[in-house]
Amino acid sequence: MSLIEHIIPKGSNGFGYGTTAEQVSAGLSLAGKTMLVTGCNSGLGLETMRVLALRGAHVFGTARTLDKAKGACESVAGHTSPLACELAEPSSVRACVNAVKQQDGTLDAIICNAGIMALPRLQKTYGYELQFFTNHIGHFLLVTGLLERLSDTGRVVMLSSAAHAGAPRGGIQFDNLDGSKGYGAWKNYGQSKFANLLFAKELSRRLTRPGQSANALHPGVINTNLLRHMGGISRRLTDVLGPLFLKTPEQGAATSVYVATNPGLTGVSGQYFADCNIARPRADANDDATAKKLWEVSEKIAAELAQRSEST
Ligand SMILES: NC(=O)c1ccc[n+]([C@@H]2O[C@H](COP(=O)([O-])OP(=O)(O)OC[C@H]3O[C@@H](n4cnc5c(N)ncnc54)[C@H](OP(=O)(O)O)[C@@H]3O)[C@@H](O)[C@H]2O)c1
Repeated sequence: MSLIEHIIPKGSNGFGYGTTAEQVSAGLSLAGKTMLVTGCNSGLGLETMRVLALRGAHVFGTARTLDKAKGACESVAGHTSPLACELAEPSSVRACVNAVKQQDGTLDAIICNAGIMALPRLQKTYGYELQFFTNHIGHFLLVTGLLERLSDTGRVVMLSSAAHAGAPRGGIQFDNLDGSKGYGAWKNYGQSKFANLLFAKELSRRLTRPGQSANALHPGVINTNLLRHMGGISRRLTDVLGPLFLKTPEQGAATSVYVATNPGLTGVSGQYFADCNIARPRADANDDATAKKLWEVSEKIAAELAQRSEST
């Protein structure tokens, strides 16, 4: 048990820093609900899938490869269906969308959990910086591809991060999406998480049915595989002191499960959550014009990628 959970007060809903995904969903039946979790094979995604399935939901668990998704799905009890979804490869995302659409029924939640963090050097794919492409564009393709399958009360949940506050001025460097005018491991991770937040806000504005919602969240800081690129002293300090200060994966998955399932959140949309409560993002993450611009730029990128796949 970390020290911090005793210091930070719980929110008015009784949940807070130390609440686990099981606690936040205690007594809830998700029988008859279908939900999709990206990055189901590790860290928060695995725990999120486990608890949703424990509560009776049918969970599509996606991972970079079908083998990874299968392994994760087999490791949890309940009704799960593994799917491959490599977010940095549009053909894989499209195949995932098609596989979901081949099944009957609607989706009650799409939890965009997968992500990469703080790549030490600039890496690109399809001409775009890899964290922006994986964390934002991959999920943009997935969610917009599946929107017609979102149920009347369906929820889109974007795993952002408090690290969105480290994004460049204005949030998104639209003239530097390939990183060629400058790259920073944390700055670009921050930008990708800023994009997750803006995407939820703009999607919330665009959803057509009143019961649907799109929200973003910061899960807390948790010692998962996400930290793999953190080297040296900071990694060693995290390993040694982490148990005192960081959340466990069970606590880290709580806000995702809360936002995806809590009946009290019906009609709550376009918000940013942390510790299972509404929180305040960086001020410019509320800028509607930037959110709209990001959506339009993402649509253009999606069209460009689709054209590219047709011509190959
Ligand atoms: N942990 C934290 O402290 C923290 C803090 C703030 C926000 N978050 C956010 O929480 C989310 C979950 O992170 P985590 O801590 O659970 O990390 P994790 O244990 O590293 O899990 C990340 C998941 O994303 C998957 N993934 C990575 N690249 C992918 C790609 N190209 N296509 C498809 N899937 C991909 C990983 O697959 P592989 O296993 O195959 O790599 C893994 O399943 C992330 O979005 C992260 O930004 C985490």
